[in-house]
Formats: sequence, C-alpha cells, structure tokens
Amino acid sequence: METQFATSVTDLFGTRLPIVAGGLQWLADANYVAAAARAGIIGFITAASLPDGASLRAEIDRCRDLAEGKPFGVNISMLPKPAPDEKVDEYLDEVIRGRVPFVETSGRSPEAYLPRLRDAGIKVLHKAPSLRHAKKAESLGVDAVSLVGAECGGHPGVDMVGTMIQGALAGNAFKIPVLLGGGIGTGKQVIAALALGVDGVTIGTRFLVADEIWAHGNYKDLLVTLREADTALMMQSVRNTVRALRNDTTNTVNELERIHAGDFSVLKPHVAGVLGKQAYISGDASIGALSLGQAVTFADRREPLATIVARIEAEMASAIEALSKFQFRGQVNAPYIL
Ligand SMILES: Cc1cc2nc3c(=O)[nH]c(=O)nc-3n(C[C@H](O)[C@H](O)[C@H](O)COP(=O)(O)O)c2cc1C
Repeated sequence: METQFATSVTDLFGTRLPIVAGGLQWLADANYVAAAARAGIIGFITAASLPDGASLRAEIDRCRDLAEGKPFGVNISMLPKPAPDEKVDEYLDEVIRGRVPFVETSGRSPEAYLPRLRDAGIKVLHKAPSLRHAKKAESLGVDAVSLVGAECGGHPGVDMVGTMIQGALAGNAFKIPVLLGGGIGTGKQVIAALALGVDGVTIGTRFLVADEIWAHGNYKDLLVTLREADTALMMQSVRNTVRALRNDTTNTVNELERIHAGDFSVLKPHVAGVLGKQAYISGDASIGALSLGQAVTFADRREPLATIVARIEAEMASAIEALSKFQFRGQVNAPYIL
C-alpha cells in the first residue's frame, strides 16, 4: 500500500506517517523504539526507565543498531517540580553525546534545558495536557508540541479536557507543528485529528499490545480483553492526575484520597514505580500504577508494531476514501469563514 500523509510532523521527524509513539515508562526501550522507526513513525526511548546515564547510552546505541538508519528520539519525563534525585542533566548529556536528533519532554516546562538542546541542534517536542502550557512551550521556542486529552493513559492534567476539544482548540492555534493525543487508536481518529487542523497524533496505549513491548504476555493478553471503561483516574487530590488500569492500586488510592485528600505521603507507597515494573515483569496486574488510556478498547490482538501501524495506515486511507463522497462545490459563505 502506497499512502501519502505528509504533514509538518513528517517533515520535522523525517517519518512516513504523522504518528508519534509517545514515551512509555519502563516499556519504551530500544527494541520498541526501533520497531517504531522501522514502521515509519517515531518513538522515544524513555530515559526515566533507566537507572543512569550509562544505561541510557547503551540503550541509544542498541536502538541505533536496530533502527536501520531511521530516526528516533529520547523521552525526558520530568516531575511537576524539580527534585534532587532527578537525572535530567545526566540523561541530556547522553542524548547530546549520542547525537540523538529528537527529544520529547513532558511533566513540566523544558525551559531550563532548551539552550543546551538548541546548541546541540536537537529538536524538542513538548507534551502538555493544556493549551495554555502548550502555547507557553511554543513561546519558549520548542520545535513542536503534543496536546493530550482526558482519555489518555498516564497524565491527562488537572482540568481533564477531552481530546476532541483539545484538537479543536489546537488546530490552527500554533505556528509550530502540533500533535493531538489521548484515546487515539484507529486510523479514522487520525484523519479526524488532521481534520481538526493538527499535524499529527501521539499514541501510547494502542501500542501496548505490540510484540516489541517486553511486558509479560499475560499482561498483554489482559489488555486485549479490556474495554474503554476499564481504566480509572487517581491522584486528583494531589493535582497529579493519572489514568491507569483499574486495579487494586487505583481502588486503594482512591479510597485513601477520600480520607486523606491532598496527602501524597499516604499514597506514595502504592504508586511507587517499582510496583508497576514488577507487574510488567510478572504479568500480575492487580497491583501497581499501570498507566493506561481508554484507547485500550482498540487493542484487539497481540501482533508486531509494524502490523498495528499498517492497520492504522489502511484505516486512514479508507477514512479519506469514505470522506471523498462529500464533494465540496461552490464557495464558503464569507461571513462564516473564521
Ligand atoms: C504505559 C504508559 C506509560 C507512559 N509513560 C510515559 C512517560 O514515561 N513519559 C511521558 O511523557 N508519557 C508517558 N505516557 C504517555 C504517552 O507517551 C502518550 O502521551 C499517551 O499514551 C497518549 O495517549 P493514549 O494513551 O490515549 O494513546 C505513558 C503512557 C502509557 C500508556
């Protein structure tokens, strides 16, 4: 199949499709990111999954070996406020040393790191859950922004604005390339996003069942059975909302938040990252904060990432064909042009 979906996002990343595989804590490793590269989209090795700069360096090298010359990036996720044990600078040293061309930032403003990245010629895609934060990032000089809506896995922000609204607000609001994420898992949705005026999409959840995701097969088998109502929100009382697989952890955390609203110290032992990693290793998903979005409903079978991407691409093509029945003739009535 030969399709042509060139946008400013494919121009920026040098990809075939305007699709970004967003960072995935613990899961977006060299194997997955290189598979994304080979499939014609761009992925980001998630630095925070790795204990130190040396491990990130090894992962970058491994990805380069596997990516067949295709572009890839590194995700630098930050906490809402800088913390003493954060390793952002250490990771950036390796990104620069490894001549990785793209960085996806998230969590808080990348402002402090932009001069270094710019000097090194690295392009920055910043992900935000609100138009205000995305516009701020644009004003700081990032190269592209992703806006994610309430349906997304991970951090949908505190205002919980749906993806359809985010897209309508984002389309045509930026001078730089803008991507839309949150709940996207089909090619029809990608075309809908492009119709809203954005230049591409960010996907996380839909790709979790890919063969190249190292999580235990039992976990991926579970995901295939899940529907859009099987995720839960937590951590709203500490203004760090997370959408995750509904399990014992989300139930416990929600119960604790009812009693101790706003007290993170009570929640912390339950949302510790190591519990999530353990769940991916063992395949027992009853405990752990396992980021998951409503698009899990589209994850219908385990297969190679390239097959999932090819299915989305085919759906994009058929959505365009379906829309072609709406031939536009004549002129738009001038007073209604925005
Ligand atoms: C399992 C999982 C882990 C994630 N980890 C991160 C992360 O470490 N850093 C980050 O910037 N985004 C992370 N995200 C968000 C994704 O990069 C992406 O923005 C989001 O999944 C898009 O929405 P969707 O889940 O509806 O596709 C994660 C998402 C999931 C599902």
